[in-house]
Amino acid sequence: MSEPCPVTRRHLQYVADRTRADDDFLVDLKAAAKAADIPSISIGAAQASLMQIALKAARAVNVVEVGCLAGYSAIQMARALPPNGRVRTIELEPRHAAFAREWIAKSNVAGKVEVIQGAGVDVLKTFASDSADAAFLDADKENYPKYLDECLRIVKRGGLIMADNAFAFGQLFADVPDESGVHAVRRFNDYMAAKPGLHGVIAPIGDGCWIAVKE
Ligand SMILES: C[S@@+](CC[C@H](N)C(=O)[O-])C[C@H]1O[C@@H](n2cnc3c(N)ncnc32)[C@H](O)[C@@H]1O
Repeated sequence: MSEPCPVTRRHLQYVADRTRADDDFLVDLKAAAKAADIPSISIGAAQASLMQIALKAARAVNVVEVGCLAGYSAIQMARALPPNGRVRTIELEPRHAAFAREWIAKSNVAGKVEVIQGAGVDVLKTFASDSADAAFLDADKENYPKYLDECLRIVKRGGLIMADNAFAFGQLFADVPDESGVHAVRRFNDYMAAKPGLHGVIAPIGDGCWIAVKE
């Protein structure tokens, strides 16, 4: 086996420079979200491409997301789906959900994305078993194990489970992390890696993105 290459910021920029960039609509969406005081914590364009490629390869039609924020990742995922594709995205904060609805309505995937306002754990429980081909977890880290268990019920066999921030906001190895979610991410990474019937890998892109197949 050749020596693994440590991934640096320079590598990530190199990857980003060779990946589809955000179009004008998505650039405007991110700028408007910032102006509306919505935190700038959506995934980046290179991670969106990785997820779109995975969704296309899996021929996904129905996708579930926990953590919509301004709608960026939901729109990007919807763009990778066929015409009958659908993204159900869950968002706790009414202000974020309202912003996302407004921008999704103006997007080229308006009919494909439904924003459901509520807590991830509660809303996921209402979704039927085997009703999705893929799920993306990108909300409060403490609840990731619960989201994973619910999504393993909701996502069909052969479907995808993706989860953001596996590198814990860049603090995975910090001795004294200054983010409360870091310990939760570490626990989740171990939980996900040990989950029977799930074949996953952390792609070192963005803040680390889990991509797994439900076997
Ligand atoms: C990192 S942002 C999501 C970014 C989005 N996926 C993107 O890349 O465009 C996390 C979002 O999860 C939401 N959130 C936090 N706790 C939640 C919960 N318990 N249920 C649903 N959403 C939650 C936050 O309000 C925030 O908007």
